[in-house]
Amino acid sequence: MSALLRTAFVRSAPVCQAAVLRGVSSSLVSRAGARITPGRSLIHTGGIQNNSLTGKRAHEESVSGTEGLHRKDLAASKQGLTTGDAVSTIPATVHGDWVLFHPVYSQEEIKAVEVLHRDAKTISDKFASSLVKLARWGFDFVSGYKHKSIPPNSNMSLEELKKGGYVLTEKAWLSRILFLETVAGVPGMVAAVLRHLGSLRLMRRDSGWIHTLLEEAENERMHLMTFMTLRQPSLFFRGLVLGAQGVFYNLFFLSYLISPRICHRFVGYLEEEAVLTYTRCIQEIEAGRLPEWTDMPAPEIAKDYWRLEPDAKLLDVMYAVRSDETTHRFVNHSLANLNPKTDVNPFAFREPDMHVKGKKIGFERDEAEKYVQESHRLLQQGRSESK
Ligand SMILES: [Fe+2]
Ligand SMILES: [Fe+2]
Repeated sequence: MSALLRTAFVRSAPVCQAAVLRGVSSSLVSRAGARITPGRSLIHTGGIQNNSLTGKRAHEESVSGTEGLHRKDLAASKQGLTTGDAVSTIPATVHGDWVLFHPVYSQEEIKAVEVLHRDAKTISDKFASSLVKLARWGFDFVSGYKHKSIPPNSNMSLEELKKGGYVLTEKAWLSRILFLETVAGVPGMVAAVLRHLGSLRLMRRDSGWIHTLLEEAENERMHLMTFMTLRQPSLFFRGLVLGAQGVFYNLFFLSYLISPRICHRFVGYLEEEAVLTYTRCIQEIEAGRLPEWTDMPAPEIAKDYWRLEPDAKLLDVMYAVRSDETTHRFVNHSLANLNPKTDVNPFAFREPDMHVKGKKIGFERDEAEKYVQESHRLLQQGRSESK
């Protein structure tokens, strides 16, 4: 293993990735892909087309959050700093992203995703894979979900398919998705916190992992905010989420202290399930078995976040979310192949696009090293071009 993967990239790279990438030639700016093509939105440019809080007149509603105000925010909105008569330090015009880096996908990319499974090779892989299977079985059991294939040549009506348990209703799909997204946002944040604390405690650099982990956590939270626009969960549902979060956060926290690699492998397998779930959901919409969603417009918050067209549909959102889950699958399986104490995060500066992430389960360690070397070369080239 060359020393490059461990040290050179971090040593040579300035702290702020956005600044570095902005300074590099336009042929390699995005972490979402090696090249930026005209017409595709860049991340972190601060341009008005990129999530400007005031420039999005077409999607203005999304600025205030179409998922609706939380009941605590309702009270705060009457006395908060943003009311007209309050003393506010919020500038009248704000340009730039309001979220962390996240990929924006082309139409080809979102169709390039494949349902993949990584064979469990070691005992720890098998342990992580079994845990995910157990979690999936437990969740299916509690929520009464059985994936029953529709019998071939069936002429059952949609109602009969629903009654027979072959097809989930829109409401049932949303319950599953909302619950899973409340859980999915936990691992990235826990891992980022622990690496952040480790960096402070040991007074050493993090090797670029924290940002990617935070980005994953926020990305999952944005999935939740998006689907919250379609349904307001009941008090019972919120109670379930509260309990699940309390248990899962603490378990994952302790587990990450013991073995970050097994935790990333666990998340990799979990994300395989997420890709499968959204793939099935997309198939159901396209087959017309979720009629309420067939022509449903995309929520405004989703159009803003994934830079979708103004007439985008919920189906486009499902494709974008599935692509995100594919990114998580790829990133976590790749991180699980690295040494978390010594190796740099190969995705700290750029990520492969969906043509790679959608068809490959993750980078092995030697592939990660080559990717870091390539990033290093691109950075050097960008620097010399900008002089
Ligand atoms: Fe998600
Ligand atoms: Fe995910």
